[in-house]
Amino acid sequence: MQLRMISISVLLAASAWACGAKAKGSEPPAGGAGASLYDRLGGKDAITAVVVDFVEQRVAKDARINAFFATTDIARLEAGLADQICEATGGPCKYTGRDMKTAHAGMGVKDADFKALVEDLKMSLDHFKVPAREQQELIGKLAPMHDDIVTAK
Ligand code: HEM
Repeated sequence: MQLRMISISVLLAASAWACGAKAKGSEPPAGGAGASLYDRLGGKDAITAVVVDFVEQRVAKDARINAFFATTDIARLEAGLADQICEATGGPCKYTGRDMKTAHAGMGVKDADFKALVEDLKMSLDHFKVPAREQQELIGKLAPMHDDIVTAK
């Protein structure tokens, strides 16, 4: 009886190991070709690093658009942007801020302002050496928000 119990547990342990090994082997590599954009960008920490650089080193220093952010809570904006990008790229986050129409209502954002902001984002993505394909995919996720954000001619 004792021996039977031992051999059953050995068998269970061996099959658990085999299943684990198989599941692990069939997962795409974190940054590999089949991975989500979120994983290819390097996950939440990498996204947050891009967002902080974008807001503090690009937008804040961009005289074309920085006046818009004069009274903005920057830490809150950065946290919201990081969650939004994380969620939009297939990551495990949930953006809980205002929708884009409400958040930008009454600001009078023009198309040129939107373009300036996307140029700033591209500068941060270049700074972190994000490849062209991932840059295009990310900008492709944000571009459809244009009409909710740009409200002035
Ligand atoms: C794809 C482009 C954009 C995205 C994804 C985006 C995203 C966001 C997000 C997530 C927030 C935070 C909203 C909240 O927490 O309630 C926000 C706020 C804000 N956005 Fe944008 N935004 C974009 C374009 C722009 C542009 C072009 C401008 C102006 C040049 C702008 C100006 C602002 C300002 C000033 C705030 C802060 C509002 C406040 O202080 O209450 N955004 N944006």
